[in-house]
Amino acid sequence: MLPDWADRGQIAAILLCAGALRLSILFLNGQKMVSDLSAVVTGASSGIGKAIALAIASAGGSLCLVGRDRDRLMAVAESCLLTARSVLAFQADLNNDYALEELTRYVEREFKSFNTLIHCAGIVTVGHFEKISVAQLDLMYRTNVRAPYTLTQALLPLLKTQKGQIVFINSSQGLQASAKNAAYASTKHALRAIADSLRHEINAEGIRVLSIYPGRTASPAMESLYKAENQSYRPELLLQTGDVAQAVINALQLPRSAEVTNIEMRPLIKSY
Ligand SMILES: NC(=O)c1ccc[n+]([C@@H]2O[C@H](COP(=O)([O-])OP(=O)(O)OC[C@H]3O[C@@H](n4cnc5c(N)ncnc54)[C@H](OP(=O)(O)O)[C@@H]3O)[C@@H](O)[C@H]2O)c1
Repeated sequence: MLPDWADRGQIAAILLCAGALRLSILFLNGQKMVSDLSAVVTGASSGIGKAIALAIASAGGSLCLVGRDRDRLMAVAESCLLTARSVLAFQADLNNDYALEELTRYVEREFKSFNTLIHCAGIVTVGHFEKISVAQLDLMYRTNVRAPYTLTQALLPLLKTQKGQIVFINSSQGLQASAKNAAYASTKHALRAIADSLRHEINAEGIRVLSIYPGRTASPAMESLYKAENQSYRPELLLQTGDVAQAVINALQLPRSAEVTNIEMRPLIKSY
């Protein structure tokens, strides 16, 4: 059951402030520190995005969570509230230009401390080249390439003022395309190009750009993929979403003298 404020058509925008007593404290070099990460996380309602949101919350950061599924988004927001400095949630289909514009205005208006943009929203469809339709390719392009491109462009002015950070959750398919992945891998190759080019352009302004290239990671999307391939799903043999989240947080919290540009990850024992 959702509260009244969450029932306003397509866009549900809320501000939930956790009390100072709920801040989780990091211990670094013997000193108490609360993370200054203030992140917009797309795809926060599920899988890797959810794990990253929870990790930032645990570090005492601030969040603006973005996803389509309102109930799952609100459930993640409630969990994050236990430890985060503040939590905003914004329901949006990122394939909708109007929703992207609304999200941008919302972040500008409500998320004053915003300094980190994390792109996790993404979709995957695999199959033989002759079977994946152009419509499926177009949908993956819109979600995996056009949406993060557009949102980054819109929020870059704010990130510049904060000397912020941008994270693109890419895929091992963004580095090396395997069979039955032509469409998905092409979108992730494009995403890599966007990150690399952008990094060259904006590093000089103090903005860090990170791409993460995970192999198969246990998530709802991966479970559906195994089902579609008629294979038994053994999540314990895959990367865990928390593994990816930990790598992201570690890179984001490095001293400003350093930048991690690319992280390749895979399960320790590869089962696929
Ligand atoms: N799992 C893996 O093995 C793996 C490996 C490498 C890379 N990746 C990448 O990691 C990212 C996350 O994947 P995942 O496995 O965590 O998938 P997931 O559990 O299915 O989560 C996908 C997330 O993206 C959101 N999303 C999808 N389309 C959207 C749209 N049009 N507008 C707004 N939000 C949208 C979903 O929101 P709703 O649920 O609210 O619709 C959900 O929060 C993707 O970019 C994927 O390519 C995953």
